[in-house]
Amino acid sequence: MAVTRTFSIIKPDATRRNLTGAVTSKLEEGGLRVIASKRIRMSKEQAEGFYGVHRERPFFSDLVAFMMSGPVVVQVLEGEDAVKRNRDIMGATNPADAAEGTIRKSFAESIEANSAHGSDSDENAKIEIDFFFAADEIVG
Ligand code: CMP
Repeated sequence: MAVTRTFSIIKPDATRRNLTGAVTSKLEEGGLRVIASKRIRMSKEQAEGFYGVHRERPFFSDLVAFMMSGPVVVQVLEGEDAVKRNRDIMGATNPADAAEGTIRKSFAESIEANSAHGSDSDENAKIEIDFFFAADEIVG
């Protein structure tokens, strides 16, 4: 299996509860390496741009407001089959449906405050990584 990259966000509900390390531990224990990381406060432009694909969804404005409500940690993760691996470690979007031991089952408060985001394809991983990181910020 190929070593690939994916993009992750530790969301405001998790940073607020001081769970940055706990979430990152699950990623690392699951076989992913954090090769870039920064704690940022998302602007409205960033949140709207990042989630632009969801613009027509009824939850869009709440989602944007939530993502701006506190610091987030954006990360580039590397590992074998990184996109799927990360999604397995995160669990289902809705914590009510997430498997035992996953980030969202362990930590998420709701479908919106669900502690972590992960790219859903290699193509989107590249787009999302490029949205938040310059090449020289990815240090391996
Ligand atoms: P994420 O993987 O970051 O991608 C889009 C986000 O929208 C998703 O996680 C959820 O946190 C959020 N969201 C809020 N409400 C819903 C909903 N009803 N269905 C799907 N996603 C939702």
